[in-house]
Amino acid sequence: MSHDEDWVDVGAVDELEKRELQPVLAKRTRLALTYRAGKFTAISSACNHVGGPLAEGKLVGDYVECPWHYWKFHHATGRGEPGFESDAVPAYAVKVENGRVLVDLGSATRRHKSPHEQHPLARTPKREPGPIRIVGISTTAMTLTKERFSTSDNLLDEALAHAKSIGCDTRLVKLRELQFRPCEGFYSKSARACTWPCSITQMDPDDQLDQVYEAFVHWADVYLIATPIRWGAASSLYFKMVERMNCIQNQETIAGKHLLENKTAGFIITGGQDNVQGTAGQMLGFFAELGVQFPQFPYIAHSRGWSAEDMENNQRAVAESESLREGARALVDRCCAMARLMIDGTLVERAHVRGGRKAHRAGPRE
Ligand code: FES
Repeated sequence: MSHDEDWVDVGAVDELEKRELQPVLAKRTRLALTYRAGKFTAISSACNHVGGPLAEGKLVGDYVECPWHYWKFHHATGRGEPGFESDAVPAYAVKVENGRVLVDLGSATRRHKSPHEQHPLARTPKREPGPIRIVGISTTAMTLTKERFSTSDNLLDEALAHAKSIGCDTRLVKLRELQFRPCEGFYSKSARACTWPCSITQMDPDDQLDQVYEAFVHWADVYLIATPIRWGAASSLYFKMVERMNCIQNQETIAGKHLLENKTAGFIITGGQDNVQGTAGQMLGFFAELGVQFPQFPYIAHSRGWSAEDMENNQRAVAESESLREGARALVDRCCAMARLMIDGTLVERAHVRGGRKAHRAGPRE
């Protein structure tokens, strides 16, 4: 039951009727106030999903669309869009008196969060017993129906064949075979808008990067990542993949949640031209920030130098090089040894505290 004192003045009609949707504060309650056809309506501004600010979204038909991941709630009843009606945010009675807009906080309808099926990736990572598991990630690009010889793929194949021969479980993921969207920078809206599992993965069932997340977070002990050098850097598909890893790194910094436990990475880098060390440095830096460990000598590489434009000779050099093949096998051995060391060993307690680069807390708490 509401009382007179529950009616809270949130502002002047003259001002509030200028915008269709806007945030207002009623005491300490944040509201999304809508003005339509001469009438005000108000619902809670806190989205049922992960608390996005509904008032900063937009009106789509009769619904307020959350700016974070686009859930929708009716501007007057607070109910979810058709099919999700039971997912409701509180709605409030609103009246106009003496040129002022008043909201009745005592009239709030109940927030109701319907159970949403948990994404399979959201389960707690737990290593199942068994041999060392190695996922090979091929990042080179080519037309699927017109496969060509790839030096990085060639050495990755050698590495995975060796891994199998020493009793490892292996998987190969070719990024060129996956349909996946680039990172859309949800963290730029708010750190909490970048979710685990990735917001895109949760919203788009056609996005296939879940295969890489599944391998990185849940299945593999070792990541073997192969890339060609393109313009002095790793391939575009590599960067497209690692941008989507923001959601893993973000969990370290905003939630203190360490998704990658006892993971090892090694790299295969080949290029007709140079900058092996620059490319390796970027890859090592990125995976270090995710909390991944490396073996001694964590990459093998091949490059014939700045002036080598004759790619056919480059390909032959790799295809015929027993020392590169041996290097690929030895990289697998080193990665397995490091993985075994971590799986069987014990890390010091609180080893992950303030990991993920943020050694201190920013903001007013300091
Ligand atoms: S849709 Fe609102 S917080 Fe995700």
